[in-house]
Amino acid sequence: MSDRPDDAFFTLHADLPREGPGETADVAWAAETAGLRPDARILDAASGPGGDIGALLRAAPTGHVTAIDLHAPFIEAARARWGADPRVTLMTGDMTEPSGPFDFIWCAGAVYFLGIEAALTAWAPRLAPGGVIAFSEPCLFTDTPTDGAIAFWEGYARLTDAAGIAAQATAAGYETLATRAIGDIGWESYFRPMEARIAKLRPGADAALAAVLDQAEAEVALWRAHRAETGYLLSLVRPA
Ligand SMILES: C[S@@+](CC[C@H](N)C(=O)[O-])C[C@H]1O[C@@H](n2cnc3c(N)ncnc32)[C@H](O)[C@@H]1O
Repeated sequence: MSDRPDDAFFTLHADLPREGPGETADVAWAAETAGLRPDARILDAASGPGGDIGALLRAAPTGHVTAIDLHAPFIEAARARWGADPRVTLMTGDMTEPSGPFDFIWCAGAVYFLGIEAALTAWAPRLAPGGVIAFSEPCLFTDTPTDGAIAFWEGYARLTDAAGIAAQATAAGYETLATRAIGDIGWESYFRPMEARIAKLRPGADAALAAVLDQAEAEVALWRAHRAETGYLLSLVRPA
């Protein structure tokens, strides 16, 4: 979550199937808990390369997914997978831009760029009546986290627990309907392809790239050591 040399960072992150932890079961849980209609209009906010688009379409097979991300190469990667599907619109831009209305806003691992209150406030006018938002956010699962668990988030100032996340949603005028922690499968779905890419890039990496690869390996090791203490909490919220 810190600033990194961009070129080397994106060399590592090119061609990964997803850019943060998550799995199909997370999307299915949120859609089922929300009672999503098959024809739901969905925003995949900060979609990355579109790793969740398939699961979103399975949740709403006659609906529509608008996927947006600031990083154009991620949207191009998503276009290679989903560009021919008329149920999918792909856009490069800020995740608060699309005007909607949306029945479901899905945001995996990206609300922290804006902050929960700012993101939920920006999305409120984009929600259709009855619309819901699901977002994942860094979370402490223990009252006594070790230094390693805190260090995993690299100084994230808003790091808090489930009650703290719900309080920020409340402050933005939302109620929390349900929560669930992103599980090990979701994290490994992100880390294992990254480890394969690190192994591929390591031979011949220049100093900047080697530093990024080292940092990524350290991040994986830190999460595996502290995964009981911290992770992402997926929250399903709606305007109160
Ligand atoms: C941790 S990745 C998660 C990507 C994707 N949701 C996934 O799970 O694979 C965070 C993403 O947020 C994007 N991002 C950051 N700020 C953004 C903003 N204001 N609007 C749109 N995308 C943003 C980044 O480009 C990156 O793709």
